[in-house]
Amino acid sequence: MRQKIVAGNWKMNKTLQETEELIKALQSSYTTSNTEVIIAPTYVNLYRSQELLNSSKIKVAAQNMHFESTGAFTGEISAEMLQSIGVETVILGHSERRDVFFETDEIIAKKVRKALDQNMRVIFCFGEQLEERKSNAHFEVVSSQLKSVLSALSETDWDNVVLAYEPVWAIGTGETASPEQAQEMHKHVRNEISAMSSEAVASQISILYGGSVKPANAAGLFSKEDIDGGLIGGASLKADDFLAIVDAAE
Ligand code: 13P
Repeated sequence: MRQKIVAGNWKMNKTLQETEELIKALQSSYTTSNTEVIIAPTYVNLYRSQELLNSSKIKVAAQNMHFESTGAFTGEISAEMLQSIGVETVILGHSERRDVFFETDEIIAKKVRKALDQNMRVIFCFGEQLEERKSNAHFEVVSSQLKSVLSALSETDWDNVVLAYEPVWAIGTGETASPEQAQEMHKHVRNEISAMSSEAVASQISILYGGSVKPANAAGLFSKEDIDGGLIGGASLKADDFLAIVDAAE
């Protein structure tokens, strides 16, 4: 059985006080499930989040990190820093990092390498733009994103990788990929992983869907064979909505 995961990417939202409130609301209503639940608050609030969730099943992830350990990289955060506060999971390759902050496949590959060398777990994001889907290039684009970053991984590296397909046209737009569109891509991704590593790795790896997942559409998406949960933006900022999505993954 593949691990189901629902992760909330809070992006640049929530002050310290709002972070504490949301975590408390999550804790008071969350009942342990088989689905792994992760939240990714902003850097500033990671330490406090980790403190509040110390004895909870809800895990804390970072939204990004740099590939160097230390040095003159103003504004950046290293894997070692994250680990020093107990954060062991990091989201890498998010389309907002690619499009707004110009991260290339090459940069993302270095970050993934660093995180895996540190024994951290990576939630690796990829997905096509609207024009790429319209011109029927979406499978090719996704294959290329996967290959540029993941083709050099070793058998053991894969244990620490979670994939997140996030079609850019569905992020924050209210437009979701249909369960069929998402399933079609997830199956393609699993085939690509099988070719890059092994059948065993491909059948074990969790592939999350992200892009306007809401309580109303989550169950339809998560019912598909190759969709193992979700990476949730907007709807992860409200405890009730996020927990309804977690329930939908059961
Ligand atoms: P939305 O759920 O707001 O569309 O965001 C998805 C996302 O980018 C999660 O990383």
